[in-house]
Amino acid sequence: MGRVGLGVAVGCAVVTCAIAAALVRRRARSWLRWGRAVAVVEGFEEGCATPVGRLRQVVDAMAVEMYAGLASDGGSKLKMLLTFVDTLPDGDEDGIYYALDLGATTCRVLRIQLGGRGSKIINHKVEQHQIPQELTSSTSEEFFDFISLTLKEFVEREENGINQVPDERKELGFTFSFPVRQLSISSGVLIKWTKGFAIEDVVGKDVSQCLEEAMSRNGLNMHVGALVNDTVGTLALGHYYDKDTVAAVIIGTGTNACYVERSDALIKSQGLLTNSGGMVVNMEWGNFWSAHLPKTSYDIALDDESPNRNEQGFEKMISGMYLGEIARRVLHRIAEESDIFGESAYHLSVPFILRTPLMAAMHEDDSPHLREVGRILEEQFQMPGISLKARMLVVRVCDVVSRRAARLTAAGIIGMLKKIGRDGISDVASGRTKGKPKRSVVAIERGLYTNYSMFREYTNEAITDILGEELAQNVVLRVAEDGSGIGAALLAATYSSKR
Ligand code: BGC
Repeated sequence: MGRVGLGVAVGCAVVTCAIAAALVRRRARSWLRWGRAVAVVEGFEEGCATPVGRLRQVVDAMAVEMYAGLASDGGSKLKMLLTFVDTLPDGDEDGIYYALDLGATTCRVLRIQLGGRGSKIINHKVEQHQIPQELTSSTSEEFFDFISLTLKEFVEREENGINQVPDERKELGFTFSFPVRQLSISSGVLIKWTKGFAIEDVVGKDVSQCLEEAMSRNGLNMHVGALVNDTVGTLALGHYYDKDTVAAVIIGTGTNACYVERSDALIKSQGLLTNSGGMVVNMEWGNFWSAHLPKTSYDIALDDESPNRNEQGFEKMISGMYLGEIARRVLHRIAEESDIFGESAYHLSVPFILRTPLMAAMHEDDSPHLREVGRILEEQFQMPGISLKARMLVVRVCDVVSRRAARLTAAGIIGMLKKIGRDGISDVASGRTKGKPKRSVVAIERGLYTNYSMFREYTNEAITDILGEELAQNVVLRVAEDGSGIGAALLAATYSSKR
């Protein structure tokens, strides 16, 4: 080989080495960045851990807080609100009743016909309407005018052609799913808004009166026969069909639970007599807090940036309004720490852009190569061409968020049952093991449980983890479809027949 040839060969070798070194460096950098993405997820996973020991601590904390909230107003973050519901519908109710069910983003109007003497619900009709976003921060008058007009139009459609006594006053069950201090079965004052609502001039007012005034302004002759929380409506419907129903849980945009308490345990309302010896208590468990809850830096940041800081802590960890947002925050951190989402991840910086139904869809994607996850990332967040490895990481984040929420929901449910001695464990601990523990049915409603099968599975699995296989069989979570509204109409029927 001549000198020139040698020079060329050496040159080629040098270039090849340089390219190889650059490739190795690039690969090493990419591994490093991938490692950082994985570390973000692992850190999050660790922070969200809910081993059974921790769940049992949450169970106990829930029961303890319930006692404290029943002992005095302000004694606990759990408000434990009296509902004045001391009798649940039993099937003897008769006639036509309406309900207006105001939850979060939607309002439902419905009409039921009851046949009395155990004939149950003869028929019912439900319509769902979207609440315009701007109304959630408008004025009391605008808001109540909108919902009473929606109801009026529904009543007119329903009664068109039906032989009704003209102008006869109709009875309404009003489901108002926010914390209310009840003054009676049919009236109560709004304590505060939750779930992003901010119609300030309603706080402190009797919401039944606001609605009745709006109905009369709009020419609707209707009377609020029962004002109930959505959990209470759900309990009423659950109990209507199954007398072992002792509690109800809502797990949707917001979350809450109610249950039947003995009157003598309502310490803060000393001497309150009820017909049945018991009363339904609206726990407002969305505001529950305990040091045992697994809180991460993402939860802290979400709370800090929320309009209701330090409030609704449990709700911010487990309900539909927040799960997608928690996942979004973790994905955004991954995007900041690594390049696994490419250049186009800036959409992930927009708060609340990842809604929980989308998170659930990604979590439950069973298409080959997570095609659905890829489609959602591309169409909803303008993040095309995300690798399979990165898509798998996205699914893992959704799984962690949802699993923690479902397991904490289960712990809350068992805590509530423990307080009333219906968890089965209390029987074992006190030696009352003769006979089978009582069957306890918890009526449950709303999308997170009804439409999200992974969430449902994780909840049921955690109940078994906490109680053990045998005792868990006595705790039945039963969906009470449309319970919040139908139950309110049933309660309007129960209480109007008592007047
Ligand atoms: C409200 C509760 C309601 C729950 C479920 C919470 O934000 O404070 O009153 O029951 O959401 O809708």
